[in-house]
Formats: sequence, C-alpha cells, structure tokens
Amino acid sequence: MGADWTEHFAEDLWLKPDAVGADEAAFIKKALRLHRGQSVLDAPCGAGRIAIHLAHAGCRITGVDLRPSFTAKASVRFEHEKVPGRFIAQDLRQMEFKNEFHAAYSWCGSFGYFSEAGNLDVIRRYALALRQGGRLLVDQINRENMLRHFASSRQTGNRSMRTRWDAKTQRVESDWVVVRDGRREHNRLSIRLYTPTQMRRLFEQAGLIVEALHASSNGEPYRRSSKRLIVVGRKI
Ligand SMILES: C[S@@+](CC[C@H](N)C(=O)[O-])C[C@H]1O[C@@H](n2cnc3c(N)ncnc32)[C@H](O)[C@@H]1O
Repeated sequence: MGADWTEHFAEDLWLKPDAVGADEAAFIKKALRLHRGQSVLDAPCGAGRIAIHLAHAGCRITGVDLRPSFTAKASVRFEHEKVPGRFIAQDLRQMEFKNEFHAAYSWCGSFGYFSEAGNLDVIRRYALALRQGGRLLVDQINRENMLRHFASSRQTGNRSMRTRWDAKTQRVESDWVVVRDGRREHNRLSIRLYTPTQMRRLFEQAGLIVEALHASSNGEPYRRSSKRLIVVGRKI
C-alpha cells in the first residue's frame, strides 16, 4: 500500500483523548530535557494536545500536521489559553526547517507511515530542523512485544479492526471498518515498525546519536516486553 492512506484515514480515528496529554507531555519534557524559552517542533502535532502543556511550561512551539482542521483547532486552543504557538498545515515530507529547534518529537505512533526512503527522509528533515546538540524523540509501538501478543482482530464500539503483519515489508497493515449511521466506512493504515537496531541506524544516517531508549511515558528503560519503543537522539 502507498503512503496515501494518510490522506484518507478518517479524522476522528487519529487522536487520543485530550485527558492523557498532560502526563505524556511531562514525560516528553523530561526525556528531551526541555527548558523554558526553548523552541520545540511537534510534528505531527494533531490538535496540539501535547504541545499545549509544553507551551504552558514556557516552550516556544511550532506544530506541523497534514490536516488544516487539526492545526486550526490547535491555534484556537493556544489563543484561548493565551500561550504563543505557530501551527503549519503541511506534509511531514515537505518540512524544510533549518537549525531552528532545541528539540523535536514525533509522538503517538506517528512515525513509519511512508516508504523506507520516505521514513529516512523524514528523520533527516527532523535532524536538519534541529540546532547542533538538539534532541529528537520518536515513539512507535514496540514490534517485538506486538508480535508476541499479536491480535489479528479487535472490536471497540462501532469500530472493528483486522490487522496483519507483513514480514517482508516489516509493516503492520490494518483495515478498520467504522459503522456510521448504519453505513460501513473502510479505512486502511500501514506502518513500518522498526527494531531498536534499525531505529538506531536511521538516526545515525541522519546525523543523530541515540542517547536513550524508553519503554513508555512512565520513563522506564526499553525492554523487549515494552509496549512502546521511544528513541531519543542528539544532533552531533
Ligand atoms: C496518531 S496522530 C498523533 C498526533 C499527535 N502527535 C498526538 O499525539 O496527538 C497522527 C497525526 O499524523 C497526522 N498525519 C498523517 N499523515 C501525515 C503527513 N503525511 N504529514 C503530516 N501529518 C500527517 C495526522 O493528521 C494525525 O494528526
């Protein structure tokens, strides 16, 4: 499947509830060693549910997301809560920031959407966006743990999901069916999941040295049984 699935996936399936944002933001702030006044790139930012907490902690936020409706929501929220923030509706593959940020992050399984070359290109764009010494954090599902407890189908409320692991492409491919007003709506999702070694290699190819691997937003170190693989690297 091509990368275009990102353009067609239903808007209301993308974002986690706002309520869990504060704890996740606190973890990101600690993992990236953020201080008041630092400039931070949140890409993709969704509707700014993480960025808003970092902005209240004094970070200068730039958020990028493909969906103008999400960046518009984020702008309205920032204005309403009287914190500064810049939001840009843009594809990750077109970011062209240079040496601007103290830190950048890709949160909530938002990495791996594109081809092998496309994913590396996005990591390079984050790296280019960072100042020297700046940090990048990337979060994915931990594939080791996911494969050990693989669930090929799941049903929640009006949504049912069928998932398949393609060992050749190392991608998790999911079909979601959502029933709305009695009509079945189909959504597809395709994500390349990286091992810690592969992730390290990606970071190095972009000029980043991996400093830490975390298990989740509780900050514990990564293990094969972790739910997440969260990688933090520094631009050298
Ligand atoms: C799982 S959500 C996570 C958003 C945010 N990081 C959070 O934690 O709330 C993934 C986001 O990626 C955005 N997205 C999908 N494809 C994209 C692309 N090609 N370029 C930029 N953003 C994209 C979606 O609009 C969505 O907001």
